[in-house]
Amino acid sequence: MTEHILIAVAWPYANSDIHMGNITGSHLPGDISARYHRLRGRKVLMLSGTDSHGTAITIKADEKKVKPYDIYQHYHPRFLELYRRLGISYDIFTSTHTETHFDIAQKIFTILNQNGYLTKKVSKQWYSETLQRYLPDRYVEGTCYLCGYEDARSDQCEHCGQMLEPEKLISPRSRVDGSTPLLRDTEHYYLDLSTLEPKIYEFLKAREPYWRPIVMNQSLGMIQSVGLKETPITRDLDWGIPVPIEGWEGKCLYVWFEAVMGYLSAAVEKAKLDGAKDAWRDFWVNPETKSFYFIGKDNITFHAVTWPAELLGITDGLDAALGAEDPEPLILPYNVPANEFMNLEGRKISGSHNWAVWGLDALDRYDPDALRYYLTAAMPETRDTDWDWEEFFQKNNNELVATWGNLVNRVLSFTYKHWEGVIPDPHGLRESDLALLDTVRAGFESVAEKLEAVELRNAMAEVMSLATEVNKYLDVHAPWFEIKTNKAEAAKSVFTAIQAIDWLKMMFAPFLPFTSEALNAIIGQSERLFGELSTEEISDSLGTHTVLRYESPSTTGQDRWQPEELKPGMPFNQPSPLFKKLDHSIVDAERARLGS
Ligand code: MF3
Ligand code: ZN
Repeated sequence: MTEHILIAVAWPYANSDIHMGNITGSHLPGDISARYHRLRGRKVLMLSGTDSHGTAITIKADEKKVKPYDIYQHYHPRFLELYRRLGISYDIFTSTHTETHFDIAQKIFTILNQNGYLTKKVSKQWYSETLQRYLPDRYVEGTCYLCGYEDARSDQCEHCGQMLEPEKLISPRSRVDGSTPLLRDTEHYYLDLSTLEPKIYEFLKAREPYWRPIVMNQSLGMIQSVGLKETPITRDLDWGIPVPIEGWEGKCLYVWFEAVMGYLSAAVEKAKLDGAKDAWRDFWVNPETKSFYFIGKDNITFHAVTWPAELLGITDGLDAALGAEDPEPLILPYNVPANEFMNLEGRKISGSHNWAVWGLDALDRYDPDALRYYLTAAMPETRDTDWDWEEFFQKNNNELVATWGNLVNRVLSFTYKHWEGVIPDPHGLRESDLALLDTVRAGFESVAEKLEAVELRNAMAEVMSLATEVNKYLDVHAPWFEIKTNKAEAAKSVFTAIQAIDWLKMMFAPFLPFTSEALNAIIGQSERLFGELSTEEISDSLGTHTVLRYESPSTTGQDRWQPEELKPGMPFNQPSPLFKKLDHSIVDAERARLGS
């Protein structure tokens, strides 16, 4: 049976553009994995969407004096544009502000409630009499009861760094209008994680051997240190998904509680768009599916503990609610390869201080594969890393252009010129030719192993070092000299080199999809490596939502990872350079843009 791979990527908040830290943290590793598995002929569903609700969005809306919906509608299309231009190949990128998502989130809430995993409790919350509504914790400022700092947020003090109990804040004031809020009783629903704890523990333990240590430590650590507690899942907020209970008007599901459900609702949305209503089950109700969650380390416990808890709590209830005759439980995460953080020029990225390299902006000046190459080389898989413009410049010119791009260009141009645009017949290969091809061919296995284990950075480094091997081979054989005395020898060398290039093209393809596709066409392969991204509109009672969709090429289902050997006599096209050499002046120019 074809393997099913679910690639789930953290949903970006609709309150800011996407920067390099977000891209290298989740979208790009998700895309590399999705493209790799597709080349293996597996059924892939890569999904995500805009995280549209919560105070992150309402605060931005208040600042701009517009509605939260307008903020969502401003950023969402910009996300889609970025993915298209950078080649982030979502099978579906939707949003949490759709009817499909509302419906599924409310159903899950109801099922968890019926299954006895929800409780209700009364607590105190700041209330604004001037606005006649409750104020989220972040909307209230005052004096820190721990250190005396006067501009502390009610839930956290920036000065001493401590998390605060909001109701203990001294001299509270509303961030909206400066008025003094009052503490009022409010009732909320809680998810009872403590009852689910043994199952979550078992789920984590089974994955301990292959998960990244930081992910396992944080999630198991949470259980082993304090244990899992009840966690509030509703809020006094009117922007979001209404609590589906009579008398609870004006309260919403907590944004984190519902956003993770997008991994399901997006699959359901795509199935609807495809006119195959139940197709989401091929992935979600299939014990063979491997699901990978690409997230940043600040999202670990939500994905490794809370989301599995929700899935364990609904068992087969959602499948039944969506109409299955033989309902089954949904699959739990197979891997959560969280990344650490990428800094920028030695400092923490900060969007509000413009200490960031914005995706769309960078794409105005650099090619997508040049950005993808550096983002992968500096991917924070095992530790925090740093985006450094000097290093970007060096890697582009010394590795992408000098090692790989020039290899392709000089071999193909030379062959094109001297063998009239066809791949020459080597009439048998020499030992050194065969040795090089063996070395490169071995990459299909070892690069694949790294890709499967989500060691993307090492995987790409290995492909680049194989390209170096081909360059070394050419230093020895130098067909440009061989041809002067013996064209038959030169034919062996260029045949070998082109064969190696064609294989490396495939190994580079998940990382560098644009230039690999171009190279594939130059070498004269008729079947494209990848499909296309397009957009589609959904209209429902909540608004109009544009979604991004990846259309697979017709070769889906075949394992194309290790292509057949090239046939002598095959015509190919005149090559043009795949990459651009950069001028060193970009380093200072880019640094000057930061922080302004
Ligand atoms: N919006 C969150 C963030 O940017 C991530 C949400 S992931 C989801 O940190 F699965 F919950 F949607
Ligand atoms: Zn303090």
